[in-house]
Formats: sequence, structure tokens, C-alpha cells
Amino acid sequence: MLGARGGWRALRRCASLPRAVRLRVREALGAREPAEAVRVQGWVRSVRSQKEVLFLHINDGSSLESLQVVADPSLEKKDLTFGSAVEVHGKLVKSPHRMQNMELQAETIHVVGPCDIWSFPLKMKERHPLEYVRQFPHLRCRNNTLGALLRIRSEATASIHSFFQDNGYVHIHTPIITSNDCEGAGELFQIETSREAKESVEKSHFFNVPAFLTVSGQLHLEVMAGAFTHVFTFGPTFRAENSQSRRHLAEFYMVEAELSFTESLQDIMQVMEDLFKTVTSTVLSRCPRDVELFHKYIAPAQKTKDRLEQILKHKFMIISYSEAVEILKQAPQTFTFKPEWGCDLQTEHEKYLVKHCGEVPVFVVNYPYDLKPFYMRDNEDGPQHTVAAVDLLVPGVGELCGGSLREERLPFLESRLQRLGLTDAYQWYLDLRKFGSVPHGGFGMGFERYLQYILGVDNIKDVIPFPRFSHSCLL
Ligand code: 4AD
Ligand code: MG
Repeated sequence: MLGARGGWRALRRCASLPRAVRLRVREALGAREPAEAVRVQGWVRSVRSQKEVLFLHINDGSSLESLQVVADPSLEKKDLTFGSAVEVHGKLVKSPHRMQNMELQAETIHVVGPCDIWSFPLKMKERHPLEYVRQFPHLRCRNNTLGALLRIRSEATASIHSFFQDNGYVHIHTPIITSNDCEGAGELFQIETSREAKESVEKSHFFNVPAFLTVSGQLHLEVMAGAFTHVFTFGPTFRAENSQSRRHLAEFYMVEAELSFTESLQDIMQVMEDLFKTVTSTVLSRCPRDVELFHKYIAPAQKTKDRLEQILKHKFMIISYSEAVEILKQAPQTFTFKPEWGCDLQTEHEKYLVKHCGEVPVFVVNYPYDLKPFYMRDNEDGPQHTVAAVDLLVPGVGELCGGSLREERLPFLESRLQRLGLTDAYQWYLDLRKFGSVPHGGFGMGFERYLQYILGVDNIKDVIPFPRFSHSCLL
């Protein structure tokens, strides 16, 4: 987002220059002093023509609020409509209105790009429902809700990077095209060239081996954690789950961290909790109006901000998987999937557990060995009984983060891979356990689920910039 300081430096510099200084809307609204000769560019959000005066509101995406432009009615022209792109030159003056600090007194208004309002799907002063604007992925960013979301997304992204950089982590660009299936769940998109796809002959692979879009950067991060100690990645991740649910995407962003010399799940949970709290505090303080829009108009339960602030003050709860199953078994309600030790926690179970714990984030630790991927560390609390895994469950969304200690002991990993028939494919991974192996662990957090949770958005499609290829059927 724009720093107001940059604009003011520009203003001061330009005080002696004849050319109008360009201000972003956010800078103009936040200005402390009036200014002669400024120009503002943006898209018209409203036009109100009165006998004596013409009012415009223009927005350039730098803030939720639009800048009021006050002009002589003689400046009105036919193509100065809602949705048109304009450049306004004039004076920045104190606004007589209580609700805004500054307004622009226009001297000239140039319509840079007209807008055909009859076919433009967004209408002036209408609060379009999210389902409606979803039909126009190329235009919905001109709507307040998507505008607010994308500024928050940008701020949260920067804050995630700062959190890790400030704590000594090295950022790694893990590959997007890979030959491994980290999670072993088989939910992969396979890559082929368009020629291979057309000629359905016996496949000769472009890379000589089958290649996929990554489901997680974890295994590559583990390589790097073996040299840099603390590493993270934050990139696109792909899952070919045939799910239309409101919390699954085919393409999403995952934040992943990997920490060497870590012997306890507690250390991993601490990083998850610190990351969540730091990024959320930053977003709440840097985008208050954008967040408010969601909490007031979009979130089903309208107390999200208070609830979030409470959550930031308290430690997250921790329960074991076994305790979770006991809680579910004693629940006064019946579930579609009967809770049973050894079975996956379903959405209905996650929901109940979070409610049982008081609608706060809950870590569930130590899952059954057979439920989790090959890389998780055996707790040795019985023959292949549980692994040192952790999921963070949050209200309204369910699983937000998944992590574990990794099996760093060569014999344990070798025998597990052997049982799965994966020894050949993971020779390189076994190598890591031969050359300076250390106890280590990490986690992944779904970025869209994170946004869904803090903003109270029901459908995950509404927290991504372009929803077209997000699900198994096109919108
Ligand atoms: O629990 P998952 O599958 O964990 C991993 O992939 C680990 N290898 C991460 C690691 O330890 N480095 O995915 C992590 C998180 C989930 O908790 C969820 O928030 C999100 O990624 N996620 C999805 N988000 C949106 N759509 C989907 N289809 C998702 N699948 C997982
Ligand atoms: Mg998971």
C-alpha cells in the first residue's frame, strides 16, 4: 500500500514547479495541508450533478475511500460517467464535510477512458453480492469488497515475508513443477506438453519422468533446512481434489516453514501461533477500514473483530487427537461420520471440537500413524501408534495449518518407505538422513483459509483474485 510520506515528499519537491504533482487518492485523503496544482487519476465511482455544482468520487485502488471532486457544472461531459477513467487537475482543499478530510476542487477533468455504463455489470451505488460479482472475474476488482480484499491480501503477504525475515529465516523459491507427491494423497495435476496431450500415443515425458504441479514445497524445504537451519516458502500450490467445498481450491497459496534442530512439536506450534498473531495484528492495524468492511457487511457473525482481538490476547488451546475423539464420542449430537480412533477428523468433527473449546483456535496433536504421510515422526508410544503431527483448527474454516516433526532417523524412514514401495523414488530424501541429519519439523498454512478466517468470508472463492480455475468445474 502507498505510504503517505512519498506523496508529501513529492508535493514539497513540486511546490516550486509549475507541473501539477500527481497524488494517489489515499495520499490526497490523508494530506494535512491544502495544495495548489495537484492531479489525481482514477475511476469514477459516482457522479452527482447539481445546478450549481458537480460532485464526483474517484477511486484508484489505493484506499477503500474515494476522493470527492467538486467541479463547476460546465466541466460535465457526456462520457464522464460511472466507471470511466479520469484525470482531474485542481486544488486540494480542506473539505467542509465531517466524514472526509480533503477534497479536490477541479479545474480540468479529462476522461481518459470512457465506460459504457449500459453494458458495465457494476452499477453505481449498488452493493453487489459476492455471488454476483464472481461472474465477472475481470471486473470485480473495481468493486469495494474485492478492492478491500486485495489490499488486505497484499498487506498480509508482505507481513508474512517480514515475519520470517525478521526471525532469521531464509526464503526459498521451491519448485512448482516437481516429480514428488509430498502428501502421498494422489491429488496431483500431471504436466504434459500440448503435443503430448494431442497425440495420445504412448507417452514420452517432456522431463523423461512424470511431472506434477506441486502439492507442497515441504520436501524441498527440508533439503534447505539442512543447510540454512530455518527456511520458508510462500507460493502457489495445487490439489486435484474433486471438491466443490467452500474451503477447497485447486490452486491456492501455502506458507510453509521448516526448522532444523527442533525436537518438540511445541516449537512448531509456537511459530504457527506467532505467525498468525503477528500477521493478523499487522493487517488489523494497517488496513482497518478494509477489514471493517468485511466484518460489518460480509461476515455472518458480525463480531469478528472483537473476537479476533480476544484471540490475539490468549494462548491457543492444545488437545491430543485421542482426547479429540473422546470429546466427539461424548458429544450430545450425532455425526454423519461416527467418530472412531484411527479415522480422519471430518469437517463436522472439526466444527464441533472448535465449538466445544469456545470458538477459538485449537491445536490437535499426535495423530494415528496410519492416517498421516510417510515423513511424519513416529512417537514410539506403541508399535506405529501415533506420529508427532499437528493440525490447527479454527472456527468457521476448520483446518488452517498442518505440520509435524519429520522422521529424521534413517532406519525408521527406510522401513516406512519400503512398506509403501517408495524407496527408489525417495533415495535423495533418505540421503538427507545420512549426511548430517538433525531433528526437524515444520508446517504449512493455507493462505486463503487464513484470509477466510480473519475476514469471516464464507466461500474461499471470494478471497482469491481470479476464481476461474479455482475449482474442479469452471465458473
Ligand atoms: O495439511 P496440508 O496438506 O500439509 C502439507 O501439505 C504439508 N506438507 C505442509 C508442511 O508441513 N510444510 O496443507 C497445509 C494447509 C492446510 O492446513 C490448509 O490450510 C491448506 O494448506 N490447504 C488448502 N487450502 C485450500 N484449498 C485446498 N485444496 C487445500 N489443501 C490444503
Ligand atoms: Mg492437512
